[in-house]
Amino acid sequence: NVTTENAPAAPAKVTMPDAQTVTSVRHWTDSLFSFRVSRPQTLRFRSGEFVMIGLPGDNGKPLLRAYSIASPNWDEELEFYSIKVPDGPLTSRLQHIKPGDQIILRPKPVGTLVLDALLPGKRLWFLATGTGLAPFASLMRDPETYERYEQVVMMHTCRTAAELEYGRKLVESLESDPLIGEFVAGRLLYYPTTTREDSPFMGRITDNLTSGKALADLDLPPIDPANDRAMVCGSLAFNQDVKEVLEGFGLREGANSEPREYVVEKAFVGDGV
Ligand code: FAD
Ligand code: A2P
Repeated sequence: NVTTENAPAAPAKVTMPDAQTVTSVRHWTDSLFSFRVSRPQTLRFRSGEFVMIGLPGDNGKPLLRAYSIASPNWDEELEFYSIKVPDGPLTSRLQHIKPGDQIILRPKPVGTLVLDALLPGKRLWFLATGTGLAPFASLMRDPETYERYEQVVMMHTCRTAAELEYGRKLVESLESDPLIGEFVAGRLLYYPTTTREDSPFMGRITDNLTSGKALADLDLPPIDPANDRAMVCGSLAFNQDVKEVLEGFGLREGANSEPREYVVEKAFVGDGV
């Protein structure tokens, strides 16, 4: 038919190696969004690991950054939780993605925030600031977390309450989740705090652990290397300060090759680091 013949050819979709298709995007604040993409059929990962994702750069080379996978390993799609850095080479563009767009995803997951890097114990603490929540969004949805530990405590701290919303909505949805709800029920304790805006619970994670306030609020016994395990994900300064606190309780840093009582990963590489 004439209309079709005269219509301009649709621009050919550029085929990128390791391309995945965006399926949904949600903006939480001016500086935070989450999105889901198709999952390469062959991609296997351990909850808590990260991959390199990105977009084609101006010079034709891919512009890639490390991102924690926020979805659990049983999910048929992959979810990511992202900052928007105003002048950030990747996120100044990535924040504009829409369903149907393509991103690059290198299917080589790695990382230290994995259950295998910790010794067995009773209670597992997830300690995160900002987008450092992302690996725990995966681990909180993994049945294996609850098979290995009787109790899981998610401490998440941001400057404002709006920055806690992605994590709060996720935690609130878990108990009624048809797949993971029965594992989570009554065993996931959530302790969100803000530091620069009033909210029911306030203060830095380091302060709330050393003062005992978090333990008192959650009705938990003192942190003890015989029972407690921890995973830490935030800025370099946060990670260093939390490490000191945990070492003070007698916990030792572990790794994939040598499981111990806690593990740490940077949520991002800061300026000058
Ligand atoms: P960049 O040039 O990479 O960063 C510019 C500056 O922005 C940095 O110097 C830093 O000061 C600040 N910044 C960067 N990322 C963040 C952040 N997440 N929170 C606060 N400030 C930040 N980012 C995510 O949003 N979600 C993730 O799940 C995630 N996982 C990561 C896992 C690892 C192991 C590492 C090392 C980094 C991770 N990052 C994550 C950071 C990510 O790799 C990029 O730095 C981020 O996407 C910004 O990219 P950009 O090119 O826009 O700016
Ligand atoms: P604060 O507001 O007291 O600095 P940022 O947005 O700067 O990355 O910080 C995210 C959250 O992490 C904020 O609530 C911040 O608290 C807290 N935070 C930043 N640095 C540290 C640290 N070294 N130890 C504990 N908490 C920290």
